[in-house]
Order: sequence, then structure tokens, then C-alpha cells
Amino acid sequence: MSGIPAGGRFSGQVVVITGSATGIGRATAIRFASEGAAVACLDIEQEENEATAADASALGTQAVAFACDVRSRAEQEAAIVAVVERWGRIDVLVACAGSYVGGPLPDIPLERWNDLVAVNLTGVLVSNSLVSSIMIEQGCGAIVNISSMAGRTSWPHSAEYSATKSGVIGVTRSAAMELGPHGITVNAVCPGNTLTTMVRRVAGEIGATLDMTGDQWLAMRADDTALKRLAEPEEIAGVIAFLASDDARYITGQSIEVDGGLILS
Ligand SMILES: NC(=O)c1ccc[n+]([C@@H]2O[C@H](COP(=O)([O-])OP(=O)(O)OC[C@H]3O[C@@H](n4cnc5c(N)ncnc54)[C@H](O)[C@@H]3O)[C@@H](O)[C@H]2O)c1
Repeated sequence: MSGIPAGGRFSGQVVVITGSATGIGRATAIRFASEGAAVACLDIEQEENEATAADASALGTQAVAFACDVRSRAEQEAAIVAVVERWGRIDVLVACAGSYVGGPLPDIPLERWNDLVAVNLTGVLVSNSLVSSIMIEQGCGAIVNISSMAGRTSWPHSAEYSATKSGVIGVTRSAAMELGPHGITVNAVCPGNTLTTMVRRVAGEIGATLDMTGDQWLAMRADDTALKRLAEPEEIAGVIAFLASDDARYITGQSIEVDGGLILS
């Protein structure tokens, strides 16, 4: 494992992150790199993903961008094989690649549903499946899947998204039971509204249906939380890193809400 610097909570560890080009995945790549991990960045958006890997490398660790559409098992497998060839192991998987679409139930095109399932659910299942054999062989590992508060509860016009994110929790629970005897933890993080490109786009779309601007909709969502504000991507990344750390070694099968108290309120 040459080139992986000493020092830091994840020193000597290899972390694979899907959806690393922007938002929560990017913040997670930077967080793990800042704590000494070698980081494999898998994303469909090549230019922004290269920028994430460059920024992570600038922190003094190794970070490599892999072009990967998580809808393709072959592309995910090629990236995972390349990671193992390069670093010899995978200690942490963060399955973060995801997308949001929504709209009224009578108007859901089947192609849109199939595509969302392919990214948000099949993509997560495949990455968990691919790293599981490597982690079983190692006898250790941590998987953190990114669900959503929409996986724990639901709103109108979000049946598709909610279903995929509830599915991620199901994958997480079953994988935790199956992989626990091998020393592998599997947990899910359920973020609330987090200030990323995705949420700003969604705010604009939903706001328009309610005669509001995107900013007004976001302010309303912030007001719905106990903390009266939305999350920064770095705040989600911190919880992801905790769940992958040794401090969380007795936590598995959980889906942790990081939503500023939205569901509770
Ligand atoms: N932002 C929020 O409010 C929020 C809330 C709950 C859950 N989430 C979840 O967090 C995750 C990250 O979202 P974000 O808010 O950072 O959004 P984002 O759009 O900034 O990041 C999503 C990333 O996934 C990548 N991606 C999308 N489709 C892909 C594909 N087919 N193959 C590979 N990569 C692909 C994108 O290129 C992007 O880098 C998603 O799973 C999302 O559902 C976000």
C-alpha cells in the first residue's frame, strides 16, 4: 500500500465512494482524504470527479477518479477491480451516487421509475455485492449506504424516490445480518435537506408547483427542522466517516437520521 500516508483516523485504509463528483459524495471524499485514507472516486461526471480526486490528493493522500455509471454492473466491477489492483484492499465503501425525480402519481413514466431504481437502488445493491466478497476475504470492512429521510417517511409526489431510498435501508439491514459474522458493518445514513446542487434543483422544481421560489421552499424546509436550518454536505460526511470508523465498530444494520430533527418535529 505504498503512497498511503501515515497519520489520521483512516491512515492505511482504502475508501471507495460512488457519487463523489459533487455534493455529499465530494465532501465525503475530502473528509476521508483529510483523515489519511486513499480514496477511489467513482462517478459518471468525469470532469467534476477529477476535480474531487485532485482536491483530495492535495491533502497529501492518494486519490484516483474512476469513470463509472453505477447503473452498469460491468463499470462498477471494472472500477472495483482497478482499486484492488492498485491498493490491494477495500476497507470502506460509501454508496452515495443518487438522483431525485418526483411528480404526481398518475403521471409517473415507467422509464423514469426504471432509471431511478437503476441508479438509487440497483447501483447500491451492486456496489455492496461487489465489495462484500473482498471484505469477507479480508475479514473486516465497513459499508455506509446513503438513503434519505424519504426512506424513513414519505411525502406526496415522491413515491419513486421514497421507494428507492426505503429499498436502500432494506439492502442495508440484510447485508448487515449477512456480513456481520465476517467482521463487516453495514449502515445507512438518512440525510435531511442538504445544501447541494441536487437539492437546489429539486427546490426550484417543487417550489414552482407551490408558487414559491426555490429559496422560499428551502426556507420552509429549514423552518420544519428542530435546528431551523438545512445541512451542509460536510455535516453528512462527518457522520459517514464516524460510521466507518473504529468508534462505530459495534453499530450495524442501522439507518441514522441526520436531518436536524426534521422527522421528529
Ligand atoms: N441533498 C439532499 O438534500 C439529500 C437528502 C437525502 C439524501 N440525499 C442523497 O445523497 C446522495 C448524494 O446527493 P447530493 O445531494 O450530494 O446530490 P449531488 O447531485 O450533488 O450528488 C450526486 C452524485 O451522484 C452522481 N451520480 C448520479 N447518477 C450517477 C450514476 N448513474 N453513476 C454514477 N454517479 C452518479 C452525480 O454525478 C453526483 O456526483 C444521493 O444518494 C441523494 O439521494 C441527498
